[in-house]
Amino acid sequence: MLNVETIRKDFPILSRKVNGKPLVYFDNAATSQKPRRVIDTIVDYYTNYNANIHRGVHALSQEATDKYEQARAKIQKHFNAQHRHEIIMTSGTTHGINLVAHGFASILKKDDEIIVSALEHHSNIVPWQMLCERTGARLRVIPMNQDGELVMTAFEALLSSKTKLVFVNHISNALGTINPIEDIIKKAHKVGAAVLVDGAQACPHLKPDVQQLDVDFYVASAHKMCGPTGVGMLYGKKAWLDKLPPYQGGGEMIAEVTFEKTTYADLPHKFEAGTPNICGGIAFGAAIDYLNHIGFDAIAAYENELLQYATKKLLAIDGLKIYGTSKHKTAVISFNLDGIHPYDVGTILDKMGVAVRTGHHCAQPIMDYFGIPGTVRASFAFYNTMAEIDTLVDGVKKAKAMLS
Ligand code: ALA
Repeated sequence: MLNVETIRKDFPILSRKVNGKPLVYFDNAATSQKPRRVIDTIVDYYTNYNANIHRGVHALSQEATDKYEQARAKIQKHFNAQHRHEIIMTSGTTHGINLVAHGFASILKKDDEIIVSALEHHSNIVPWQMLCERTGARLRVIPMNQDGELVMTAFEALLSSKTKLVFVNHISNALGTINPIEDIIKKAHKVGAAVLVDGAQACPHLKPDVQQLDVDFYVASAHKMCGPTGVGMLYGKKAWLDKLPPYQGGGEMIAEVTFEKTTYADLPHKFEAGTPNICGGIAFGAAIDYLNHIGFDAIAAYENELLQYATKKLLAIDGLKIYGTSKHKTAVISFNLDGIHPYDVGTILDKMGVAVRTGHHCAQPIMDYFGIPGTVRASFAFYNTMAEIDTLVDGVKKAKAMLS
């Protein structure tokens, strides 16, 4: 059971006002807010032990290196990776996806096939299109239905010996659908394809176990998980990470450099060229500690209550349509008011201190499927309250009255 009032005190930003009204922050799928523990970790790093890592013999460098590697160990434990070196620190989910896509350019051949889903964010479409252009491979798409669920029979029909890779998000950012990734991974493996799961939207709400899932690659961003922006992680099975070439060349990723030939460092450093986001990585570890202290079972149960309550109240508004009606969904509600542009609704909500995202949510194919330019998206976190949902609902009613 969550004590939401106590939890809210951990987040300084939640007590500020916006447009003269108490902030109601419902844009958690874009980025989460940060608890004091994470903010203090960032201040502590720059105040007390800022130094470059893996490079110096001096005390500060050792201290920063130890803390950074401790953070990697926390990430490994959190995702239950078998080896610490299977965790590559990235600048975020998009970086992780591009790293893998770049690596597969040297593996894929013309007419190989890669499968993505109709529910993907642009970051899980564009890198694969670029990969297809470079290699001559073909992109196939798992279709979705009116509830915003993947059509699994169509996925099965797409799989063949030509399929080399399958890329799917764990949870859709635009609709909140939780995809059946266990099933997708099992079926893809039967034809010998590797699977990358984009966990950006899942990791704030649940705790993936990469060994149990038997997933080949899993990517996530710290900033959706109460951590800072500009840092994330790529999990890859060791065998795959050994097979892929480095993504970027530079310092720290080499074993030996001469003008004739360079040999590369061992994992994970082979994929970590240049000075990383040291402070961000350490604060990512603090965010993981914080979320585990709250507990993912409690987070999921409470967020589901928020989802059910908000769904019921919003659907009671005449002319309001929710997009994404799967039974398996997380606390994201995408909706429109009949005949009213989502941007106008968002602007009125903002005047009331309510932060939502409006537009296509970097998922234009989903909007095209529904024949709409975009939606208003309210996305909840464990620090939100039922009273805040009431404020949202009042705001939507007000927007309807003003704009229809
Ligand atoms: N991908 C983030 C979102 O869905 C930015 O808002």
